Amino acid sequence: REGSGGWGPPPAKYGGRHTVTMIPGDGIGPELMLHVKEVFRQACVPVDFEEVRVSSDAAEDDIQNAIMAIRRNRVALKGNIETNHNLPPSHKSRNNILRTSLDLYANVIHCQSLPRVLTRHRDIDILIVRENTEGEYSSLEHESVSGVVECLKIITKARSLRIADYAFRLARETGRAKVTAVHKANIMKLGDGLFLQCCREVAGGYPEIAFDSMIVDNTTMQLVSRPQQFDVMVMPNLYGNIVNNVCAGLVGGPGLVPGANYGRDFAVFETATRNTGKSIAHKNVANPTATLLAACMMLDHLRLHSFATTIRQAVLASLDDEATHTPDIGGQGTTSGAVQSILRHVRTASGWSQCS
Ligand SMILES: *[C@@H]1O[C@H](CO)[C@@H](O)[C@H](O)[C@H]1NC(C)=O
Repeated sequence: REGSGGWGPPPAKYGGRHTVTMIPGDGIGPELMLHVKEVFRQACVPVDFEEVRVSSDAAEDDIQNAIMAIRRNRVALKGNIETNHNLPPSHKSRNNILRTSLDLYANVIHCQSLPRVLTRHRDIDILIVRENTEGEYSSLEHESVSGVVECLKIITKARSLRIADYAFRLARETGRAKVTAVHKANIMKLGDGLFLQCCREVAGGYPEIAFDSMIVDNTTMQLVSRPQQFDVMVMPNLYGNIVNNVCAGLVGGPGLVPGANYGRDFAVFETATRNTGKSIAHKNVANPTATLLAACMMLDHLRLHSFATTIRQAVLASLDDEATHTPDIGGQGTTSGAVQSILRHVRTASGWSQCS
């Protein structure tokens, strides 16, 4: 099963069914969420969605409503909300407000080679754990004198220990053999030095798991030349952002890789690379794989493992048929064609039974 980190209090559940917040987001988010609902319906998944609309141009009230809904349900599935870079610095990314307000400190993505998706490398299976609340994402910037900007990167012992412990617990829970900490402690001796030292300290408590560290620039080179050497990786915020995207590219792109954000109390599931796919919205060509696999990570978190397995296997099995491949992975198929194929596999797996 996927790493889920379900160590907090239980999610909202009424009459044997879970209620989960759904934030469709912008771009391809809304159409993909419709497909998730259809797959869940046909797979008889005992989950109801409470839909909350948030978009980038709306007032901040919107995102506060979404946060309130997640506090209530504890679990959410979301599309990405566009961030307009032309707005003043006071306008914060809605996605970022959501993650920090809920203290979703661990971003986890699972990069794995998928059947019949043509890529340079095979047999990649990496879990990347990214610190999601501090580091370069402090939003603390100022112009000290004209022409000089200071941008603060915050590394704290408490949060470094917390993310390192998360990575090692995840490695143990998923039966992984090695954790690699990614850093730039040769240059940022204090900041990244502290991060690395915290990882080392935590590693001592997990003697059965090998610990390794690697400088971030070497990491990107090693990833594109020999990615199979990596197992679980842990790193500060910005390196995580970059390494996530390198790895997603390695296994076939943003349409394939799921991601999750875990905190002590809440969990939010989304695609790994956090883009909106605006240019391909409403064209029926978006790859549904990443969003459906994110939904499977969510089902594992809800401990609905058999439903997660059924849907995950259906998604992977449908990739065997190249006729259903969408253009992002070199095919000529459509989103709805891929989903129909997935649904056929779901129905076969459940013996065509009706939901009871
Ligand atoms: C880069 O990583 C590899 C391990 O895969 C290691 O053998 C090599 O020494 C590293 N290079 C540097 C400059 O750290």
